Amino acid sequence: MRIIAIAIVGSNGVIGDGERQPFEIAEDWARFKRVTDGHPLVMGRRTHEAIGRWLPGRTTIVITTNPQRVELPTDGRATGHVVASLSEALQLARTLDEEVYVAGGGTVYHEAWPALTDLDLTEVEAAAEGTVYFPQIDPTEWAEVSREQRDGFAFVRYTRRGEPGLGSVD
Ligand SMILES: NC(=O)c1ccc[n+]([C@@H]2O[C@H](COP(=O)([O-])OP(=O)(O)OC[C@H]3O[C@@H](n4cnc5c(N)ncnc54)[C@H](OP(=O)(O)O)[C@@H]3O)[C@@H](O)[C@H]2O)c1
Repeated sequence: MRIIAIAIVGSNGVIGDGERQPFEIAEDWARFKRVTDGHPLVMGRRTHEAIGRWLPGRTTIVITTNPQRVELPTDGRATGHVVASLSEALQLARTLDEEVYVAGGGTVYHEAWPALTDLDLTEVEAAAEGTVYFPQIDPTEWAEVSREQRDGFAFVRYTRRGEPGLGSVD
């Protein structure tokens, strides 16, 4: 299974302030929708609340310590699950698809880091204000495999050089 983190990241590593993500780039959001379409999307409860809706056309798996608090989708265009841990989310995703996207936020990217096989990043050439950071990308661990340059940002794909440490995800 490919486990791919997808994120938009400032030049200082910032991805958000705890509530919102700092960048509004239409091409990035359109690409996010296209890339993740049809695949399971794993995210933390705070990111789910920040998005504010269940995204249509894909299965979203929300992680929370309090599953009763998250309302499941009702309009039939989106599929949603609520689970109590990252390992439960990844186990469920594995039954659905060979390709799963981890969509944040900071807590979930850090927790999922040992299990990730790929990173699909929008790297913005400007620093952002915020307190939530994407994990550091160690070039001895991650190989850049593609880069699509745009004006002020780039879509960059990395793949893990070794095997992921799936056993270390709790
Ligand atoms: N730039 C980007 O691409 C991007 C993408 C996504 C998010 N963001 C930003 O990131 C920020 C949010 O990140 P965050 O770290 O504060 O929150 P988060 O990772 O979205 O969600 C954290 C919450 O997820 C649940 N959770 C996480 N791990 C868990 C586990 N192992 N077991 C049970 N529950 C677990 C907990 O929910 P409960 O509290 O309900 O237990 C926890 O409070 C926002 O600013 C958002 O805009 C940016």
